[in-house]
Amino acid sequence: MRSIPNANQSLDGFLGENISEKRPAKVNGNNHSSFSDPAFANNKIRPIHRWVPWIAGFSKEFVNDSIKRHIDGNGTILDPFAGVGTTLVESHITGNDSIGFEINPYAYFACKTKINSLQINEEMFNDEIERFSSFYLKNLNSKYHVISKEPDGFKTRIDFYSPKVLHKVLILMDFIQTVEDPNISDLFKLAFTSTMVKYSNYSYEPSLGTRRGSGKGDIDDYDVRDVTIQKLLEFLKDIAWIKKTVANQRVPTSKIINDSFFNYKDHLSKKTIDLIITSPPYLNNYHYNRNTRPQIYWLGFANSPNDLKPLEETNFGNFWQTVRGKEEINLIFDVPDIDLIEKLAQIKKINPEKGVYGGSGWANYAVSYFNDCYKFSKGIEFSLKNGGTALVVIGNSILQGVTIPTDEYFAKIAESVDLEIVEIHIPRSKRIGNSIIQSDVRVSKPTKGHRLYEAIVELRKS
Ligand SMILES: C[S@@+](CC[C@H](N)C(=O)[O-])C[C@H]1O[C@@H](n2cnc3c(N)ncnc32)[C@H](O)[C@@H]1O
Repeated sequence: MRSIPNANQSLDGFLGENISEKRPAKVNGNNHSSFSDPAFANNKIRPIHRWVPWIAGFSKEFVNDSIKRHIDGNGTILDPFAGVGTTLVESHITGNDSIGFEINPYAYFACKTKINSLQINEEMFNDEIERFSSFYLKNLNSKYHVISKEPDGFKTRIDFYSPKVLHKVLILMDFIQTVEDPNISDLFKLAFTSTMVKYSNYSYEPSLGTRRGSGKGDIDDYDVRDVTIQKLLEFLKDIAWIKKTVANQRVPTSKIINDSFFNYKDHLSKKTIDLIITSPPYLNNYHYNRNTRPQIYWLGFANSPNDLKPLEETNFGNFWQTVRGKEEINLIFDVPDIDLIEKLAQIKKINPEKGVYGGSGWANYAVSYFNDCYKFSKGIEFSLKNGGTALVVIGNSILQGVTIPTDEYFAKIAESVDLEIVEIHIPRSKRIGNSIIQSDVRVSKPTKGHRLYEAIVELRKS
């Protein structure tokens, strides 16, 4: 049996420090409190959270800190845009019930696999890792005919995998078919999908593009076994850690729903949530679905572009690509005391000669985004108990060179549906790491005078 990394080893070193910066609040704020930095970058080294990189999430320290501030005893926490489950995992660790919504099937799968991993028999999982290693080595060195196939509908401009790499990937797929325990099988699938781009001819920059396009060479060959086993051993170590961490506490319920939060009435009862901790997509057109096409297709969640269409249509804010060519989209709410209408008119007038690629397309995108901010606010108002709090991490944006204080607009929209703005906290003034602001060349880069920041909008239902 392969030796299991010392599962009892203390991971205290993973606990982060509060590195937030105090800044004056901009709306109704006293700013007498500071939060842990919400940057997801920290999650890359934290147990469980490190399993799957996900862009523009927040750190587990931020979530943990928020839970401690707002929940006394046990409560129910909601994340309407759960991503890969930072809120749900921390809720579990702190003994709180949690519910998450996530529309992207890959992120949903990652979140579900993390939650279910608590039921894993570590010994059995370890044996399966060992069996995989032998299966792979035996079949790599023989004239093994792979049974698995690349997903048919997954079309790419150049080969996603070079032939040697593809052969190794298909051996891994064949092995996964032989794993009987569904939770262990999911861990193998997650080990594959969380590393699969690393040895492909594509890379995240942070949007997915060919390696050639960013001046890197193709990957002709790669040790797929090694990278998969490293990942699986990381899972194994973290599962042992979390089981030990939660051993003496009540087992909370964690539920992740693969649906749009806008269908909240189908899944939630009114006034049942104590605390919302979430980060919706930002107004920067980061295309979560396109960027996770490899994982979505290889996991079998889509077989053709048509399968992805409903995702595009129900994604928060839609995407510029989805709405730019539509008739002029109008705001669906009474605009509170903000200059949103003027900003939208300003964007609309930019580059009219470019048609839908100019201001009108981007104005449609911004309108869809703020309409969804309104629907989201209504969902917060519906689900929170009286006295409950929502913490919404959101970044400001620049569209066509126009700065949009998304955090302030969102706060005012929320206020218009009877939520109280407690404060807008600004924990750091510059986005760092692979923040989504750097993700899309179509959204202008900050120039002099434009300041990009992320804010935590704190709302209360009275
Ligand atoms: C900024 S990320 C959240 C990341 C999360 N905080 C984490 O730590 O992993 C926003 C997420 O919202 C999801 N999303 C977009 N539209 C949605 C919708 N209508 N309902 C539910 N989730 C949605 C995206 O797929 C994305 O994973």
